[in-house]
Amino acid sequence: MKRLAILGASGHGKVGADTAECCGWQVIDFFDDAWPQTVRNGVWDVVGDTARLKGALHIYDGVLVAIGNNRIRHRKLLELEEAGAQLCTLVHPAATVSCYASLERGSVVFAGVVVNADARIGLGAILNTGCSVDHDCVLGEGVHVSPGACLAGGVRVGDLSWIGIGASVRQLVQIGGQVTVGAGAVVVSDVADLLTVAGVPARVLSERSAI
Ligand SMILES: CC(C)(COP(=O)(O)OP(=O)(O)OC[C@H]1O[C@@H](n2cnc3c(N)ncnc32)[C@H](O)[C@@H]1OP(=O)(O)O)[C@@H](O)C(=O)NCCC(=O)NCCS
Repeated sequence: MKRLAILGASGHGKVGADTAECCGWQVIDFFDDAWPQTVRNGVWDVVGDTARLKGALHIYDGVLVAIGNNRIRHRKLLELEEAGAQLCTLVHPAATVSCYASLERGSVVFAGVVVNADARIGLGAILNTGCSVDHDCVLGEGVHVSPGACLAGGVRVGDLSWIGIGASVRQLVQIGGQVTVGAGAVVVSDVADLLTVAGVPARVLSERSAI
């Protein structure tokens, strides 16, 4: 029996669990720091918090961190790996990932995603339902590409950045670290670190302090 532990009993966690079942994981237990107040996530049990998971790593064949917040997901991934967790990478059978693309540990690729040749995806990425990451794109660590977003060829996305639902990014554009690209934006020029951009074409909405 292949046993998977998922940290993060959220809606995103449910999609991760569903994807994991499609990938052949047979036993799935959730962990969440809201435990013991939270004991169910959809059809799955929540059996402990991060501390409990660390004490039970030996009974799991893989660990997934299913937390939407990029910074928290990234921190928990490193914390669990340091504690000895085997971070797993999930690729839904209905996703298409080029054999010439690379995908770092701790990443999830949901149904309908396309990742083309020579794309490089960093640790703990979320490639959400139906997004596309074209040839030669380079994504840093802890990046989230939301459902239906499209990155054209050669786009770079810095660590912990979030590309919103349905956004499009023109080829060769460089997006910095900790950037938020708003839902439906069309990004046609480079975006500096820490900015939130939105609109068509995308303009700066706000800037935040480094985390
Ligand atoms: C861009 C975003 C992060 C801004 O959030 P926010 O800082 O809370 O901003 P607000 O909702 O307060 O909106 C501020 C202004 O920006 C506008 N705005 C917000 N999001 C926008 C967007 N995606 N495109 C265009 N304008 C947008 C608002 O209309 C508002 O304009 P106003 O001041 O003229 O009224 C957010 O709206 C967004 O698009 N998030 C992505 C959501 C997503 O992709 N979810 C998928 C999860 S898997």
